[in-house]
Amino acid sequence: MKPAILVTRAVFPEILQLLSQHFQVESNQEDVIFSPPELVTKLQGKQGVFTTASARFNAELLQQLPDLKMIAQMAVGYDNIDVAACSAHRVMASNTPDVLNETTADFGWALLMATARRITEAEHWLRAGQWKKWSYNGFLGADLHGSTLGVIGMGRIGQAIARRSMGFDMKVVYHNRSRLDPEQEARANKARYVSKDELLRTADHVVLVLPYSAASHHTIGADELAMMKPTATLVNLARGGIVDDVALIAALRAKTIAAAGLDVFENEPKFHPDFLSLENVVLTPHIASASEATRRAMAGCAAANLIAALGGERPPNLLNPELWPKS
Ligand code: DGY
Repeated sequence: MKPAILVTRAVFPEILQLLSQHFQVESNQEDVIFSPPELVTKLQGKQGVFTTASARFNAELLQQLPDLKMIAQMAVGYDNIDVAACSAHRVMASNTPDVLNETTADFGWALLMATARRITEAEHWLRAGQWKKWSYNGFLGADLHGSTLGVIGMGRIGQAIARRSMGFDMKVVYHNRSRLDPEQEARANKARYVSKDELLRTADHVVLVLPYSAASHHTIGADELAMMKPTATLVNLARGGIVDDVALIAALRAKTIAAAGLDVFENEPKFHPDFLSLENVVLTPHIASASEATRRAMAGCAAANLIAALGGERPPNLLNPELWPKS
């Protein structure tokens, strides 16, 4: 008999077809968001789950799921999964690294440019019928070319963002848990490793691409925002919670920094309503990896992890390698 799995959210139909060749699939094409108790009920008797970052897998949930063997997440970030608890319950977990690096880096630049050059603010003004005449000081923004880019979190996506800055003759400074090797730094537009404080003081544009964890919670708060140049921009592509949104709103309102571009928020999809009243912030609904090709690749990667794991093979993107080889 085929193993039973749950797909927690709507997904590309061809992925459901692929999964159906290997598993008895319970899908959710209506895209209902399951509460934790609903998830527990749905997962009874299931060996696997294909999930997105919107479901939380913690010790409390896992202890109610004796049949579960594998959580295949369709996202690179996995702060919604308690990997240590998974290991304790002998549940494998996987994510989808690499396939989204370039698309997410492209989007980082889109957000950075929209933020620095005030594109959405200008468009709203135009759509509101306010464009009566050209003016010398209309929507003055900040240059990207020749400026200093600061990247906090210099993993694969951070490096892809830094590489793109070569075309803009930018300098790159970065801060990361560990320093890259000299070859990686050279490829990332000769990125220079600096302390977080130096980065915040010197960068004209700060991009956040670090993973969320208890250690990175509020990496950017009131103190950090106060270190930034008043002309600087801040872009968060990583996760809500890395930035203290209340402190950011205060800084944007007081113009202690010039502008921000945010793809992620604390408590999303709810977000602080005060963002809506600010003109100097560009807001997008967590779409950095959302190109047609990349979302299909992410779904394919998650499916491949699930098929491998429940087929007795090592999933390519296993997050808890201590569970392999299986005992
Ligand atoms: C990721 O892959 O982590 C994206 O943020 C989508 O959740």
